[in-house]
This record gives sequence, C-alpha cells and structure tokens, in this order.
Amino acid sequence: MIVLKYRDLFQIFDGTNITREQRRELSDYCLNDMGFRILFIECVCEDQELLERNIIEILHYSADYKNMSEEEAVDDLRKKLEHYMRQYEPIDAGLETISFVRVENMGETVTAHKVAGQKESGILGYLSGMRCLPQTLYFTRHGESEYNVLGRIGGDAALSPRGQLYARALADHFNSLPAREPYTVWTSELRRTKQTAADIRAPKRAVRALNELDAGICEGLTYEEMQERFPQEFAWRDQDKLHYRYPWGESYIDIMTRLRPVLSALEDEHNVIVVGHQAVLRCMLGYFLDAKLDELPYMNVPLHTIVKLTSYGYKYKVEMTKLPVECVDTHRKQPKNCSINRTSADALTTVPSHYDTLPSNLWQNSAEAQL
Ligand code: F6P
Repeated sequence: MIVLKYRDLFQIFDGTNITREQRRELSDYCLNDMGFRILFIECVCEDQELLERNIIEILHYSADYKNMSEEEAVDDLRKKLEHYMRQYEPIDAGLETISFVRVENMGETVTAHKVAGQKESGILGYLSGMRCLPQTLYFTRHGESEYNVLGRIGGDAALSPRGQLYARALADHFNSLPAREPYTVWTSELRRTKQTAADIRAPKRAVRALNELDAGICEGLTYEEMQERFPQEFAWRDQDKLHYRYPWGESYIDIMTRLRPVLSALEDEHNVIVVGHQAVLRCMLGYFLDAKLDELPYMNVPLHTIVKLTSYGYKYKVEMTKLPVECVDTHRKQPKNCSINRTSADALTTVPSHYDTLPSNLWQNSAEAQL
C-alpha cells in the first residue's frame, strides 16, 4: 500500500507493488509527473497463527469472496499468496530510494525509513499503535438527568430518580457479567456520567474531552426557549447541524476534533465502558461504525441503552441493549422546514416531549405523570 501526498491532499493506493521495479516505476511517475510525495507501507506477516487468523477474516469478510464456497475461496487465496510469494522482493533501504514504513506481524515490529513531516509522522504513529486483536467496547449515555426530564440542554445536572435507577441497573449488568478481562470505565468530567458509573466495579477515569457539546449561550435552555430567544440561530443549526457552532460554544466538528486523541486511545483498548453524552457518543459511534458525516448529528443514541461494539475483520458489529428503566426521549429529528422565516410551530414540530417541572413521582415511573 502507498500513501500519496500532494499539498494537503492524501490518496491511498491499495496495491501489492511487490517488486523493486514496480515500486520504482510508481515512485518516478507519482513524484516526477504528478508532484506527489509517496510513503510506501509494507505489511509482513510471518507468524503462522496470525496468518491463519488473517486468512479466516479475509474469507469471511472480504467482498472478493462473498459469492464463493469456503473451499473455492481457500484455494483461490492460497494460489494468490503463492503467486505473489514467487515475485516478492522485500523493500530494502539499501537498494531503493523510497520512503517507507514496514509493519511486521501486525505491529510487533515497525521500521521507518525517510519518514518526514507532520502528516507522515502521524501515519507512522498510527501504524505503530495499530492493534488488530479482537476488541469489545461498550458505550452508554449517562442515566436520565434532571435536565433531560425538563428538556434542557447542557449544564451539569444530577441524575433524576429514574437516572439513578439506571445507574444501579447498569452496575448490576456489568458486575454480574463473567468478565474474562477486567473492565475500565471512562466518564466525562460531568456529574451525570460519574454518578451513572459510580457503582460499576472497575477502575474509572474522568476524561475532559468526553464532556458534552458546549452549547454556549444556549446552555441550560430548552429547544422551545432557543426558538423563542434565538430563532435565527435555531434555524441555522437545523440547516447544517454538523458545522453549526453555538455562539461561545461548539459544533459537532469541534467535538470530533477534541475527541481524536480519545478515539485513537480507544482503538488500543479492550473492555472499556464509555459513559458519555448524546452528541459525543454520536461522534464516537459514528467513527467506529463509519457513519456518513451529515447523518451523524441525527443518530439515535437513546438514554438507558448499552451499545456494545465488537470488532470483526475491519468492522464493528453493534448490539443495543435497552435496560428496563423508563426515561424521556431526547432525540430531535431534523424538521422539514429549516428556513429562518419559519413559524415557531414549524421549528418545534420534532421537539420530543418533556416535563415542565420535575414531577415528584418520577421514582415510580408513573404513567400518571403527564408529559
Ligand atoms: O439533550 C441532551 C444533550 O446531551 C444536550 O446536553 C446536548 O446539547 C444535546 O443533547 C445534543 O444533542 P443535539 O445536538 O441533538 O441538540
């Protein structure tokens, strides 16, 4: 594989390029005719166990073998490997004048040659930290908070009584699972996530970058109040929720930027339980599940639900488990009318129901309490 770089533009060219002559030709063409810098990435695997696991993953998950029987696929793959092995000339710094990173046995040994600049060093860092072992990660939003009940956004509210019940149910769920490896819990620095994680028997880490989207001048408001006080801002957000930045606050793009180191760290982890927030978890799950960017701010990540991601091949399988504790819905769909001249009724059509004051009977999950 090679990574081509021209100014800030990157291209990945996924190919075998196994002979020196092929690499020289490609390098000359890209550098001299196109003005691209090239970084070759050579992945070598000599560990028999890893190789077998790799072959099984390719057979199960590669689109090339979707319509073949297991026998045909194994035969085809072995022939391909033999064909390439006959021609293969390892990258050699003494014989070639190319930049390269060589990754042996899925990251056991990483060698770099003529890697220069910030972007290439970033790729080297990524490859060095690469972990290809099976991985399970858990995500959940905090339990229902007093602000969720009232339809208010942001802030640092405590859990509602039903949120506390969820915290208990969540702890019971994880404390009773037969964990083959210990869990670690990552929360934000906000009270509602810490309270949610409190009873899980595992080491905990509060990570500032996991804090919820900063809604700036709209912190603590309901969507109705936002429409009343800042109708134009509310409409602009509906027009482009991904890029919209609250005055004195953040956009989804901003949280993705601050989450980058957390996501890289998480890629090396196993059995981590992330207790987070609606917008932050949309970005994190969107990253692992390869969601389309413009759909990401509307992903439905309900309260009181555990999202389990298990790696398979190069992808993640997702399982959602809703624990039986009632809660409000905080998911507001994009309304049809996003114009700044819309009526309040049009702006508020998709706002989920919430209470206007904290009802005293929330402990009982009562159906009498009117939304
Ligand atoms: O409503 C709960 C909440 O976590 C708010 O604190 C936050 O501003 C909001 O969700 C983010 O969701 P959306 O981007 O859909 O408004």
